[in-house]
Amino acid sequence: MVYLSSLSCADLLNLERDVGELIRAGHSSFHIDLMDGHYVPNLCLNLDFVKALKRRFDCMIDVHLMVEDPFSYVQPCAEAGADYLSFHLDSVSYPFRLLSQIKAHGMKAGIVLNPKNRPEDIDKLAKDMDYCLVMSVEPGFYGQEFMDLAYEKIQYLDELRRREKLPFQISVDGGINDENGKRCKMLGADMLVMGVFSFFNQGIPIFDACKDYVKRIEEK
Ligand code: DX5
Ligand code: ZN
Repeated sequence: MVYLSSLSCADLLNLERDVGELIRAGHSSFHIDLMDGHYVPNLCLNLDFVKALKRRFDCMIDVHLMVEDPFSYVQPCAEAGADYLSFHLDSVSYPFRLLSQIKAHGMKAGIVLNPKNRPEDIDKLAKDMDYCLVMSVEPGFYGQEFMDLAYEKIQYLDELRRREKLPFQISVDGGINDENGKRCKMLGADMLVMGVFSFFNQGIPIFDACKDYVKRIEEK
């Protein structure tokens, strides 16, 4: 299981400290929500931040685009140091083209399914994508409640990749806590996005919160 720390949920006044603690706890994979204020009504981290993070730390960066024109972000994201790049299925007319552009820029290419999207929408794209990000909340804000409809999508995707012998990974984003994180893992999720119900905002140091959370999730 890869635990992706969503840095929008970190203490913005102490980002360097929080990132350092996550890495010390063994979590050097980061989920960066990149919003344009149009596709979703919010803004937070930006590409200068991604660049600074990559320069300063030895880490893996997963950029989750929540923008109206994802095509225009491919090159800037690659230059900033993104390793994984995902876009919302309903933000583009030509998803095959975008997947191939992302890969041509040396990044893993992912498709994001919103809660309203049906998992079958991914069938034809599945062999061209490296991962599928299942949204378990509406995109744009942290701290929302996990929606159970994510479970059937994870299950569907896991069955699809077994049936078609496809190597894509399954990631889940939004409202993940102990209980639902465990269930997502059991259903086939490979990556979980960690926010304010797991690694962050726990009232204890991040290092301890990470250790505790992983222990709870990994135990049978
Ligand atoms: C929601 C974001 C998530 C968010 C996760 O638009 O995509 O990555 O930061 O945080 P929690 O788990 O706190 O909702
Ligand atoms: Zn996200």
